[in-house]
Amino acid sequence: MEPNHMNDEQQLFAGFKTAFKSFGTEAIHVGQEPEQWSSMAVVPPISLSTTFKQLEPGTHMGFEYSRSGNPTRNCLEKAVAALDGAKYCLALASGLAATVTITHMLKSGDGVICMDDVYGGTNRYFQRVACNLGLEVVLADCTKPEQLKASLKPNTKLVWIETPTNPMMKVVDIKACSDLVHEYNKDIVVVVDNTFMSAYFQRPLALGADICMYSATKYMNGHSDVVMGLVSTSREDLYEKLKFLQNALGGVPSPFDCYLCNRGLKTLHLRMERHFKNAMAAAKFLEADPRVERVIFPGLPSHPQHALMKKQCSGCPGMITFYIKGKFEHASTFLSNLKMFAIAESLGGYESLAEHPAIMTHASVPESERLNLGISDTLIRLSVGLEDEADIIKDLEQALAAAHPKTK
Ligand SMILES: Cc1ncc(COP(=O)(O)O)c(C=O)c1O
Repeated sequence: MEPNHMNDEQQLFAGFKTAFKSFGTEAIHVGQEPEQWSSMAVVPPISLSTTFKQLEPGTHMGFEYSRSGNPTRNCLEKAVAALDGAKYCLALASGLAATVTITHMLKSGDGVICMDDVYGGTNRYFQRVACNLGLEVVLADCTKPEQLKASLKPNTKLVWIETPTNPMMKVVDIKACSDLVHEYNKDIVVVVDNTFMSAYFQRPLALGADICMYSATKYMNGHSDVVMGLVSTSREDLYEKLKFLQNALGGVPSPFDCYLCNRGLKTLHLRMERHFKNAMAAAKFLEADPRVERVIFPGLPSHPQHALMKKQCSGCPGMITFYIKGKFEHASTFLSNLKMFAIAESLGGYESLAEHPAIMTHASVPESERLNLGISDTLIRLSVGLEDEADIIKDLEQALAAAHPKTK
């Protein structure tokens, strides 16, 4: 449809990249072939055995011990690799286990550049754990390529990007950063934490990153009942190192969790479309409300990097950050009065959640850094779920009314 024939609603969704071809088909079929099981099971069985019989010492049918390889995990890893447009994927016990496993490719004295606005636990790991193991960690605002360029040093081995960032929703140009880093030194490994976007909305590997990682605890599983990490790459050298570390460090997920996450992937495309639609409606509602100071949602034209978001993504997830007018008490009253949204950490599940980053998810980020980033007392983060749009708006409306009884 031509832009001038679209209504306001259609215009908002227009301009994003088109969805990846055959995404739904691949989510449902890749790695799930019934022929791999003697039972011809259509749904991959949960393979609980920790060990596998060998035909003679050293000769096995592909599996020896469940930490080094498991049939249910295998199905999940194959499906995720396909969805990321990658050759390989490895599943880990949590998003942070994935971060730790990737970082173990480095040695003492190596340098890491980490985006300055990342998930609090990633920040804590790099600044309070990895630093103590002899890694030199610097933070940089990767939305400003010149800052990233100035941070590159001969010992830099890893660049860690998160986009959109958590919770400030800054959008990083993955291609520009990857090109810049690889021009400086092609061996530097660029990692993109793709947790917020999921494989459905963004493919970092196609944009030049070397590794795409997830806290699969969020959208990839999507049902708030699994803690897991995923790492995809098309580089064989990195895969070999990471596969070795997956086994050597041992941070692997259980077969049951692999089964659940594999199941969650089957509806990823449907869930993400609905998250996008609901979040767009909620963001528009909040932006028009006089009790709200500012809304940060990359799907709205008011977002400073809206054009970049359209260029590199095929949609936006359900994550909205906004400043409520007033002080901490207003934010607190708003959150305490939500009826359908639960006050809870985490994100990306089918249910709507709300949280206060300064007190909850980002409490581990030093206060001065938090304030520098804009994580103030009035900042609220929403993970908009899959409920009916009208009920989501109704809940936000009544909680705003409780926080600001005299306005409106
Ligand atoms: C963007 C992002 N990356 C990584 C993590 C860590 O993942 P996990 O909690 O699965 O260890 C989180 C957790 O909230 C996250 O939001």
